[in-house]
Amino acid sequence: MRFTFKMGLQALLVFLFSAHVSAFWRMPCRARSGLARIDPLVSNGTLSEHAHALHGSSGFSTTAGYDALIAGECTSCEVSQDKSAYWTPALYFQNSATGEYTLVDQIGGMLAYYLLYPNSDNTTLSAFPAGFEMISGDTNQRNFTYPVPDIQKSLWNVAPYNTQAFLRQAALGFNCLNYAITPEGSLYRHFLPDKSYLDAHCTDGVRFELMFPSCWNGVDKTSVDKKSHVAFPSEVMTGDCPSDFPVRLPSLFYETIWNTYEFAGINGTFMLANGDPTGFGYHGDFMMGWDEAFLQSAVDTCTNLSGQIEDCALFTIQDSDVYSNCNVTLPSALAHENVVGAVTTLPGNPAIAYGPGYASGAAAGGKSATATAGGGTIGTTQSAMTLSYSAGSSLASTESYMPGGIFAVSTGASFSAAVEAVATSTAAPSSSAIYSPPVAAAPSFFSTAYNTISANEVEEILWVEEVVTVTQAETATVTVPAARKRHLHHGHGRRF
Ligand SMILES: *[C@@H]1O[C@H](CO)[C@@H](O)[C@H](O)[C@H]1NC(C)=O
Ligand SMILES: *[C@@H]1O[C@H](CO)[C@@H](O)[C@H](O)[C@H]1NC(C)=O
Ligand SMILES: *[C@@H]1O[C@H](CO)[C@@H](O)[C@H](O)[C@H]1NC(C)=O
Ligand SMILES: *[C@@H]1O[C@H](CO)[C@@H](O)[C@H](O)[C@H]1NC(C)=O
Ligand SMILES: *[C@@H]1O[C@H](CO)[C@@H](O)[C@H](O)[C@H]1NC(C)=O
Ligand SMILES: *[C@@H]1O[C@H](CO)[C@@H](O)[C@H](O)[C@H]1NC(C)=O
Repeated sequence: MRFTFKMGLQALLVFLFSAHVSAFWRMPCRARSGLARIDPLVSNGTLSEHAHALHGSSGFSTTAGYDALIAGECTSCEVSQDKSAYWTPALYFQNSATGEYTLVDQIGGMLAYYLLYPNSDNTTLSAFPAGFEMISGDTNQRNFTYPVPDIQKSLWNVAPYNTQAFLRQAALGFNCLNYAITPEGSLYRHFLPDKSYLDAHCTDGVRFELMFPSCWNGVDKTSVDKKSHVAFPSEVMTGDCPSDFPVRLPSLFYETIWNTYEFAGINGTFMLANGDPTGFGYHGDFMMGWDEAFLQSAVDTCTNLSGQIEDCALFTIQDSDVYSNCNVTLPSALAHENVVGAVTTLPGNPAIAYGPGYASGAAAGGKSATATAGGGTIGTTQSAMTLSYSAGSSLASTESYMPGGIFAVSTGASFSAAVEAVATSTAAPSSSAIYSPPVAAAPSFFSTAYNTISANEVEEILWVEEVVTVTQAETATVTVPAARKRHLHHGHGRRF
């Protein structure tokens, strides 16, 4: 891809102040290891209430702990040393004519980013300790009570933004995919768009995004709720840790793509496997399954900014026929459970809770319409939230830069206005539209390229980094050299 922008001199300032860049790597788990009602963090020894898309170690089970993961024969992720378990609820579509649920195609498996963001006063990062586990998100959450879209992160230092309650909900993203236009920013929309919005705009499906807490109390590898031993840093992914959670871990970020567009034109409702049509109750689970010392070496030395696992000499990368044939063994009670559909209830028959009240206590299979069960249905007590398209910023900035071609958005800030002006006009934006980040390193331009193999199927998504050559002139021309292919994203249009 080649980009040529003409822009005014003032706009050049935007390019000249580039981001500090943090190292990361991106773990592709392109194959599922299973789709089943298994969740040892919440339902140890029993079946889970709802179905999950599973990735990682074949040692995963309803009773798995760290030792079982490590003992797993294989992993569905590409790096053979990674026997971790990564799981999230699957996505279903309920056809309103038949009432039946069908699993939505998951495209490209999961990407689990290990982003190496340090605290500002302490650049040391600690590997997840052996046995470490955590949950991000809350399966029972059914509302978002803060202004939409989020205010800019530099203003998150006051209540309610400086609370874990806010950060936990800001850690969810539902990215409306349309490969024909500039991607939206990651973690821009914290709820699942409704069917009509998805049909109208998200022609390539929706990407579920989930940030995990990266601040640890340094003592407990787990906790009863799988959350209180960890905390989010001040800007969800970047920013600093609360003082009582001083140890900075790798920042885990999950991405899964669901092909909602295959149901375009069919009446019905998308529903997370946990009975959540809103998306507010999206969540994900992680159990560390690395050798701890090995992971610490990777954190210390796998710092190539490309994010490609190939650029870390420590990692052993498996062939696709190995990682794609790595399944968990289902307990006999689940061996014949139809998790694909069409089925009359969601697998496990969880309550369908529309909110906005907290969903715990809802009766299985019912709409949780009573006061104690969380109440209401969309359209009566809770109208569906909307948030229209907003182009993500493809330009690095200290505030919004995210590695891996994850587009950042800087809503409400003059930054995005300046970038848009730069991209669409040859005129110099007014000085008030100029974003003034702290002076940093040499300018880089980040963008994403999509290769599609058919209308709705993306073969790969590339992230390109290009060095911008700036000519200082009244109206400068910035010519971006041909892209260097940085790394694969969701690969091969793999469908399940
Ligand atoms: C589940 O329980 C077993 C003991 O029955 C234990 O070994 C394992 O670590 C537990 N798993 C989790 C995730 O707590
Ligand atoms: C710096 O961070 C590391 C890892 O997060 C932690 O182990 C260490 O105690 C911290 N050092 C100080 C001085 O706080
Ligand atoms: C969808 O539902 C609407 C209103 O209930 C109805 O008018 C329309 O014909 C339905 N469309 C399809 C494709 O079933
Ligand atoms: C990072 O990886 C790229 C290949 O993607 C390689 O060309 C480059 O030399 C590496 N940089 C470092 C510092 O190892
Ligand atoms: C793993 O599971 C998938 C999907 O259920 C199935 O198609 C595949 O044959 C399984 N592979 C092995 C090696 O059991
Ligand atoms: C929103 O959810 C919270 C639980 O996180 C709950 O306490 C609150 O009552 C809910 N708000 C409404 C308006 O239902």
